This record gives sequence, structure tokens and C-alpha cells, in this order.
Amino acid sequence: MPETVLAQVQQAIVEVPEVGLSILGISHRSDWFAAVVEEAESNIRTLLGLPQDFHVLFLQGGATQQFSMVPMTLLRGSEHPAEYIDSGYWSRKVIQEARREGPIKTLWSGEACRYSRLPTDEELTFSPDAPYLHYVANETVEGLQFHRVLGRDDVPRICDMSSDFLSKPCDADKFSVIYAHAQKNIGPAGVTVVLVRDAVARQASDDLPSFLNYRRHIEARSNLNTPPVFAIYVVLLVTRWLLNDIGGLANMAGINRLKAQQLYAALDEAEGFYQGWANKADRSNMNVAFTLPDERLQQAFFEQSRALGFSGLEGHRAIGGVRASIYNALSLPAVEQLTQFMHDFRRRH
Ligand SMILES: Cc1ncc(COP(=O)(O)O)c(C=O)c1O
Repeated sequence: MPETVLAQVQQAIVEVPEVGLSILGISHRSDWFAAVVEEAESNIRTLLGLPQDFHVLFLQGGATQQFSMVPMTLLRGSEHPAEYIDSGYWSRKVIQEARREGPIKTLWSGEACRYSRLPTDEELTFSPDAPYLHYVANETVEGLQFHRVLGRDDVPRICDMSSDFLSKPCDADKFSVIYAHAQKNIGPAGVTVVLVRDAVARQASDDLPSFLNYRRHIEARSNLNTPPVFAIYVVLLVTRWLLNDIGGLANMAGINRLKAQQLYAALDEAEGFYQGWANKADRSNMNVAFTLPDERLQQAFFEQSRALGFSGLEGHRAIGGVRASIYNALSLPAVEQLTQFMHDFRRRH
């Protein structure tokens, strides 16, 4: 979280000034909380330039619940398969869940290349009959990011943007559903932002449990059952920070690009000492995954970096190695310190 947001959160834990109560004790039925939801929604609309027919929802269940809610809404009973791209660890999870709900087709899989690259346009053929196309914008584990919008304009695009949401401008008007849990760029775990077009929500069957039905959440204005008041409040503070301190998503993208460039330059200059996981064209601006020549050096890298105060550099257990996650709130000086450490470590070893 940005430091200015943390300072406000610290204050709010004790007392939200305009309410005189701790954020942990304010009712989700209060007018104050309704205003929090309204402003958070409005800020997200402004940041993304969201078309009017999108609903902005703050849901629970994580991105994982969306893996199922999307096909429950759009795939049950479909004779045509929905199209999915298997681009990494999170895509695989999405596909497993979608299969339970109806027919799906995997258009491309990165399994053969151990998810080290993304498909090119020539490798993808989209069907006009698919009920929708689903892909993961940024594969958090492997550090692979799509730098273009995929699919056809006449087939709904559904995108898991959990790990790059609000890190850059996005062509929201090209999508039908965008979902992103908060815990990367926009808040603490416990809330998932779901942007859903009215036409999609209207397809939700009455047979669905209310909690899994977009229409019920829209009617209840994200207050169907007790929502995570604290998490949604922090999302509001982060959107204010993006608007007022950063100056919008184009500026945020510029900062994120600079951070990523620094780290990738450190990999490229290392003459093979550091090996990036991702194909260069598909490199993520959020997660930089790489390996060292052997396990002993890798352990030394972790130990020495920890001793200097760096944390969270261990790669995901699925692929091992090192992973630097450089989400919005991580500052450029923090990245500079890491690249300096990487240069020093390489020289010493
Ligand atoms: C891209 C992506 N999708 C989905 C998930 C799963 O999210 P959740 O734990 O909120 O269900 C993650 C978790 O890190 C992720 O990075």
C-alpha cells in the first residue's frame, strides 16, 4: 500500500475522523459506508473511463469465485464452447473451474514451453460462435503480461486482471467482464472488484444462489450480505491516491514501466547470471521472475537480500526461482535499491 494510504488507514483503525468511530466498527448499513461504495465506484469509473452500461461491484470470494461465476452465468446450457487461453498457473486454475460448468475450448496452451511465453496473434484463431473468450491479463506467477487486447469484437471478452488492474489504462470498452481481487494493486485481501456489463448480468439465471448471481449484487449495491467494510474503504483510499497523488493511470503506467525497465535491464546486463523466465516480448511490468545459476547461489541471494530488508522475493512454489513483484505502491527508489543489490551480488559471485 502507498505510505500515504497506510497513514490514513492507521488513523481510521482508531477513528474515522468524520464518523468518530473505528473503521472496524462502522456498520455496513450506515450512510457513511454507502457513500464510500459510491465514491469508490465513481473513482474506478473515472480512472478507467468506464462505459455507462458497466456495473461496478465489490464482491467477496476472491478472483477464484469469478472463475466459476462467469461460466455459471454465461456457459451453462451453451452448445458452443467458451474459449480460454492457457497461459500460466492462474489460467490453469480458471480452466479447471470453467470445465465444471459447460463446454470449453483451450485455444492455446503454454504447457509445452513451461509457460515461458504467450501466444502470438498467428497462433490464435477465435470462433464467432463462442459464448465468450476468457484470458488472464497478467500471469502473476510466471511474470507474463499481454500487452494487447485479444479476441473478436463480436464475442464477449472476459478478463482476469487481478495482478495488473489499475496499473495502467485499459480499453475497458472492449470487455464484457473484468475482475480483479484487491490484494495486488488496490487494497487488502477480502474484496474483489468486478466490472460487469448489464447485458452479461441479465443472463444470470434465477436458479443461481443469490451470492453467485451478479443481478442480486447489483440490486443490493454490493451490500447483499455483510461486505468487507474495511477492505472496500482501503480501495477507496487507493483510488483517491491514484487520482489525486499519481494523476491517473497513464502516469501510473509510466512509473510502472520505469520500474520494470530497471529490473529487466539488470537481468539483460547480467550476461546470463540472472535468467529471466518470460520471453522478452511478453514480460510483465508487475512481476519479474528470474533464476540464478544454481540453488546455492539462489539461497545466498535470498539470505543476503533478506538481511538488507528486502522481502517477498521467493518465487511462487510452482516455478521456484526469484520473483520481484513491483505493484503500484512499490516505489522507484525501492526498485533502484534492488537492482543495485543485484549488481553487487553478481559482482561478488
Ligand atoms: C491473476 C490471478 N488470478 C487469480 C488469483 C486468485 O485470487 P484469489 O486468491 O483472490 O481467489 C490470483 C492470486 O494471486 C492471481 O494472481
